Amino acid sequence: MTMIPMHEPCEPTRSFLHLTACRLLALACLALYAVASRPAPAQTDPSVPALLLGSAWYPEQWPESRWDADLALMEAAHMHVVRVGEFAWSRMEPAEGQYDLDWLARAIRLAENHHIAVVIGTPTDAPPAWLTVKYPDTLRMDENGRLAQHGGRRQFNYSSPRYRVFCAEIAGRLAQRFGHDPDVIGWQIGNEYTDESFDPATRTLFQQWLQHRYSTLDALNQHWATAYWSQTYDRWDEIPLVATGGNPGLLLEHRHFVTDTWRDFQRVQIDAIRKSAEPRQFITTNIGGLAWSDHFDHYEITRDLDLASWDDYVGQGQLDSMRNGAMHDFVRGWKRMPFWVMETQPGSVNWAPINTTLNRGETRVMAWQAIGHGANAALYWQWRSALNGQEQYHGTLVGPDGEPMPIYSEVTQIGSEFERTSPALRDTQPVAQVAILESYDSRWTIDFQPHNRNYDELQVLLDWYRPLRLKNLTVDIVNASAPLDGYKLVVAPGLNVIPPELAAHLRAYVEQGGHLVLGPRSGMKDEYNSLNPQRQPGPLVSALGGRVEQYYALDGAVPVSGALGSGTATIWAEQLTTLASDTRVLLRYGKSNGWLDDQPAMVTRSLGKGSITYLGALLDAPLMQQATAWMLAGAHVEPEFASLPLDVELCRRVGTGHTIYILLNHGAQPAEVALPAPMTELLQGDAQVRAVTLAPEGVAVLEESTGATGR
Ligand code: GLA
Repeated sequence: MTMIPMHEPCEPTRSFLHLTACRLLALACLALYAVASRPAPAQTDPSVPALLLGSAWYPEQWPESRWDADLALMEAAHMHVVRVGEFAWSRMEPAEGQYDLDWLARAIRLAENHHIAVVIGTPTDAPPAWLTVKYPDTLRMDENGRLAQHGGRRQFNYSSPRYRVFCAEIAGRLAQRFGHDPDVIGWQIGNEYTDESFDPATRTLFQQWLQHRYSTLDALNQHWATAYWSQTYDRWDEIPLVATGGNPGLLLEHRHFVTDTWRDFQRVQIDAIRKSAEPRQFITTNIGGLAWSDHFDHYEITRDLDLASWDDYVGQGQLDSMRNGAMHDFVRGWKRMPFWVMETQPGSVNWAPINTTLNRGETRVMAWQAIGHGANAALYWQWRSALNGQEQYHGTLVGPDGEPMPIYSEVTQIGSEFERTSPALRDTQPVAQVAILESYDSRWTIDFQPHNRNYDELQVLLDWYRPLRLKNLTVDIVNASAPLDGYKLVVAPGLNVIPPELAAHLRAYVEQGGHLVLGPRSGMKDEYNSLNPQRQPGPLVSALGGRVEQYYALDGAVPVSGALGSGTATIWAEQLTTLASDTRVLLRYGKSNGWLDDQPAMVTRSLGKGSITYLGALLDAPLMQQATAWMLAGAHVEPEFASLPLDVELCRRVGTGHTIYILLNHGAQPAEVALPAPMTELLQGDAQVRAVTLAPEGVAVLEESTGATGR
């Protein structure tokens, strides 16, 4: 490998890992920049791989005599990072107050010998038995009043002050020991925050939290309209703690409380680590693979972190490339910067209904898809299965005998490709002209009351996302409150909650020249999950010069036609009207329930230097594609590549003076791609090419020179 010079200007060093550390210092500085503006590049040090491949590794489960063999196999697979420690509390603190971190130090030194950097997970997802037995108040209670017990994981109570003291102590001890270790490049707090608690103490905290938020019960009663069903509260301690079936105002506040509680849980550990850890070491947490359905707001949770990371699993079946690509874009949007895939499956998992395996080559496509969408690292879960324990059947890279499994060779290929292409991919990242707006409040409020059981918000997002990706455009998925300047087109498929400040933000974007398209159910609620007294889109009615007269849940298809084409709406249809003379109707419903017949389904209006459009129906895919073509043309979105065969996905990472295109063939047939310009094929000996042929599960990584000024 060419990437391991032994000396670096920033400090004397033992291995490339120290160089990684310097790189991460720069990353941390850039991260600060990124929060305030556009996404920042993630790699700056030319002497280490810009793309890292790695694995979750559990040395505490194996005799020490085995560790070197594991690390040698990782090195041979071109891995440069391991994550360790996140479930090892009983090994780190075998009895209360008795710490043993020497074994971990030895594991880290051995990893260094193999040029492998380390991310330490704090072990707080799996407290040891002595802790919860002696202090049962640290155990979580479910919504039915059942106390969790030892023997699994996630049995802790996320709001327990006592548990947090233990968490701070173990995280602090780890940071004192490894916060200056040149081979430790980062920290992961806990593991996949998941289960909240409903114990009496948490209920009291929720009531106090509400008191802080509303100040008076009058305000709370008013915002929650508690005159309904005699829900009126006279004392704070009368308020229940429920996650389902309660007042919509309470349900939404519970999600806010859950977000704040996890954020505080995390904050305690961040503070404990930061006391000792060098700033070059990043802090992240691995958000679960079902991130979409978590009960907390990822924009808020990742606010305190240096890096967003998530766990990307397919489960049963094959990779759904559109959905998985959208998830990567969603994760990239949390901090609006490149991210890590902290866990991904080596072939198969153990928790799906049928634990099928990815096809040969599919794991490689998946890894490159992550990079294409802005990841800078991918780590497999896991290296080797413990001989006992709940996950014996999960996919691994080496078997119970310690020898490579069949998937190991494919992963080795990925590792060598990451090394090979790292110089060209350094400091590149996806750059989008188009953004999709997301908001947890909106997602949750629709989830609480979908009104049509077939209203699946992830599906709605994908229905809007897919036609943009089929045009080979990079798509950002960002928080609705994110800065929008720089985007030519912004679409918001389901902004159910539009408080006045958000309305002002969106209106300003339009007036300054942006093109905004709102989807069904927009602007129905305020931030208390209360109905906007104005009809939809609430505070944007005047900007639109139109509104929703009535919404209809559909159990069949309704015809829709107009200037953009014709097709059908299903699941949801809103009857729109125009209120301003310059609001134009683009689509109308055909004959259906009488109420919708011949009524507007989509309207648009120029406003300031831009335009605002409202689409009140879920359209079929061909008509949605036509509507999207209209949106793109009106917003003057430029093509990013030539047209491609249907199963070929294009990802683009832009750097200064050059652009990287990653082509992925998700289809079962070979695909020919004619390139719009001569490019360098980075996986195939740096040949200059005008066309590429992609085998099924084929990948091409291409570099186009764009001149000194870039883009
Ligand atoms: C999650 C967890 C891991 C492991 C995997 C198995 O992502 O974080 O510890 O259990 O699932 O797929």
